[in-house]
Amino acid sequence: MAPILTIEDLRLRHKRFTPKMFYDYADSGSYTEGTYRENEAAFAAIKLRQRVARNIDHRDVSATILGRPATIPVYLAPVGMTGMQHPDGEILAARAAEAFGVPFTLSTMSICSLEDVKAATTKPFWFQLYVMRDRGFVADLIARAKAVGCGALVLTLDLQILGQRHKDVRNGLSAPPKMTPQVIADLVQHPAWCMKMLGTKRRSFGNIVGHVKGVDDLGSLSEWTARQFDPSLDWSSVEWIKSHWDGPLILKGIGDVEDAKIALQTGADAITVSNHGGRQLDGAPASIHMLPEIAEAVGDKIEIHMDGGIRSGQDVLKAMALGAHATSIGRAFIHGLGAMGEAGVTKALEIIQRELDTTMALCGETKITEVGPHNIWGGVPHP
Ligand code: FNR
Repeated sequence: MAPILTIEDLRLRHKRFTPKMFYDYADSGSYTEGTYRENEAAFAAIKLRQRVARNIDHRDVSATILGRPATIPVYLAPVGMTGMQHPDGEILAARAAEAFGVPFTLSTMSICSLEDVKAATTKPFWFQLYVMRDRGFVADLIARAKAVGCGALVLTLDLQILGQRHKDVRNGLSAPPKMTPQVIADLVQHPAWCMKMLGTKRRSFGNIVGHVKGVDDLGSLSEWTARQFDPSLDWSSVEWIKSHWDGPLILKGIGDVEDAKIALQTGADAITVSNHGGRQLDGAPASIHMLPEIAEAVGDKIEIHMDGGIRSGQDVLKAMALGAHATSIGRAFIHGLGAMGEAGVTKALEIIQRELDTTMALCGETKITEVGPHNIWGGVPHP
């Protein structure tokens, strides 16, 4: 087998080994997919300054994220249905992140539940919360996150209603798969995935099924979730969440400097500059283009995280240079998971770590926390 050297190598293998409906779920954006593509293209267009003869013998790519040490300034973003890319996917990704020394974030819409991941890990992981109309359920989710010792709550603000991904509709996506002729044809092409999936009981939304009265099969589950994302969410909802959660809070999905300023007033510990990986507002700018203005406005008062389009250590360095204190990756680790399970998530992190170290060195820097706009050729990008 050809060696795996890049996240792209992992992506190709993920595509080969995974039923189309689940691969497409990961590798897609909303509507025209313009913002999805722009997230990656914008990184590629940013150029780095090459510096030489600066003694780069002792280098350090570690960082502090929310006061805790991390091997690299990267963590695993919340990704719904990770357990459909690979059976028990959330458990495998959480274990890989723990061993590597970076945080893992469990999505509300995960297949493995909070309790499943707790039972399989030894250190605190983070939990991502969607605000649902059923606030009793939300309060219960927060209580469960507390009970399993989650180290931070990531409150996602950019999904009050769902942007449509056409591929999901065309593929008839659901978890567990609803057995239409099209879905069966998709599954029979991936017998290894099917066999592994038959070996686990975790095939539906573990945080929801069994925790909401009347939600026990595919039909009742889809009906419930379709109704539940709460379009009435506003800044007072953040106050409500804070009254239930006393640990570190990250507000995810900030894409505008005005919202960043309001987010700062809530007393949250961090914001994530994000357009949900191009899965929500199609037409939004690339995340890396949103970052500098937001970092300039509030970066000295609150920790700034950034995600969207990161596929390499070079991308991480660019984000750090443009004002991020930490970054998160979605598809980069999902491709690793779909390609090779737990070892693939580790591989994705190792690839990024190595690239980050070399890129930093070739920029003439020795500490990742000291990179800045001076490392960007031509200065801060103004698209
Ligand atoms: C996501 N994302 C996401 N975000 C969130 O807050 N809760 C969720 O359940 C999900 N689910 C989800 C599924 C899939 C398949 C993807 C690709 C993404 C968004 C995610 O946390 C992150 O913002 C993006 O993935 C970052 O972009 P990249 O790294 O994938 O380009």
